[in-house]
Amino acid sequence: MEVCKNCSVKEYNTFGIDATAHLMVKYSSIDELTDFLKKYRQEESHLPLLHIGGGSNLLFLSDFAGIILFSEIKDITLLSDDEETVLVSVGAGVTHDDFVQYAIQKGWYGVENLSLIPGQVGASAVQNIGAYGVEAGDFIKTVHTISLEDGTSRQWNHDELCYSYRHSIFKDQAIRGKYAVCHVVFQLKKRFTPCLNYGGLRATLQQKGISEENLSATLLRDIIIETRQNKLPDPKVMGNAGSFFMNPIVGIDTLQRIQAKNSNVPYYEVDKETVKIPAGWLIEQCGWKGKSIGPAAVHDRQALVLVNKGGATGKDILELCKAVQQSVEETFGIHLYPEVNFIGES
Ligand code: EPU
Repeated sequence: MEVCKNCSVKEYNTFGIDATAHLMVKYSSIDELTDFLKKYRQEESHLPLLHIGGGSNLLFLSDFAGIILFSEIKDITLLSDDEETVLVSVGAGVTHDDFVQYAIQKGWYGVENLSLIPGQVGASAVQNIGAYGVEAGDFIKTVHTISLEDGTSRQWNHDELCYSYRHSIFKDQAIRGKYAVCHVVFQLKKRFTPCLNYGGLRATLQQKGISEENLSATLLRDIIIETRQNKLPDPKVMGNAGSFFMNPIVGIDTLQRIQAKNSNVPYYEVDKETVKIPAGWLIEQCGWKGKSIGPAAVHDRQALVLVNKGGATGKDILELCKAVQQSVEETFGIHLYPEVNFIGES
C-alpha cells in the first residue's frame, strides 16, 4: 500500500487540474483495502473518502480535504469457458484499453468498439462506458465490491447492476460512493461478430476498401482508435475528460419542435417515445465550437468535449460548462447534464 500526504492530483485527472488531496492511498489487493478500511474506521472516519479510477471523468473544483482511494488490483484471470464464450475476471485497476487489447490478443471478442476509452476497468463498470454502439454493461456478468462503510464483500449480478446509458446502480444517490469495485467479470465471445451499426463505421470501412468478411478484431480496433484520435483531443496533450455532457434523451415532441427549425438535427431512436440527440450538435448550433472562456475551451473538432488549454482551474471549466448549458437551454429548451463528476466545492 502506498500512502501520499498532501498529494497533488494533477497526474490523476485527465483534465490536468492541479488540486491537492489530504491523503492518497493506493492499494494493490483486497486485503490491503480492507486493512486500510479497518484503520480508517478506527482513526480517520471523520474524513470523506473518494474512490477514483483513471480520473477521466472527474473535475476537481477545489482541493479535496479527504482520502482518495486508487486501485492497483491488476490481475486478469480466465474463470471458465465453453464453446462460445469465456468468463474473465479483471482487476478494477487494469487500464480499460489494456484489457481490450489483451482480450483481442486472446481471441475474446465483444469490447473492440470500446478501444482507447481512457480510464480503469472498475470505473468502466460504474459509468457503463460506451462508444460506437457498444456499452461495457452489455458484457459485464458480475461485479465484486468491498463496502467502504463496513469492509464486507458483495457480488452484484448483471440484473442487479441496472445498466442503461451511462448509468449503473453505483451512480444511484443511495449507493454512490459507498463501494469500491475490486473485480469485474466479463463474458466475452469466442467468435468475432463486429458491431458496425453506429453511424460512420461502415462508411469508414468502405472508404478504406475493407470488406466485412476481411475485417478482423485487430483491424476494427485500429479503425476505432484512428476515428477517436481524429476527433478527440489527447488528454496528455490537452487536458479533457472526453464527453463532458451526456447526450440528452428527449421526447419525440421535443425532436419535432427542433426539426421544425432544423430539419437536419441528428438523433438516435431510444424507444418509441424518446430519442437521443447528440449534445455536440446542440452545442455547435449555439456557436460554441472552438470558443473559449479564459483557459477553458470547447474543443474545435468535437463540441461535446471541454478542454483545459493550459493552467485552467476546475472553476474555469465549470464557468464554461454553465455558459454552454445556459445557451443550449435558451436555444433548444434542453438541459444538458454533465457526464463528468464534480469533486469539491464551487
Ligand atoms: N456532432 C456535431 N458537432 C460536434 C459533435 C457532434 O454536429 O461538434 C454531431 C454529428 O452529427 C455526429 C453526431 O453529433 O454525427 C454524433 O457525434 P459522435 O459520433 O462524435 O458521437 P457523440 O454522440 O458526440 C458519443 C459518446 C462518445 C463516443 C461516441 C462514439 C456520449 C456522451 N458520448 O459521442 O463517448 O466516443 O458517441 O460512439 O454518449 C466519452 O464518453 O467520453 C465519449 C467520447
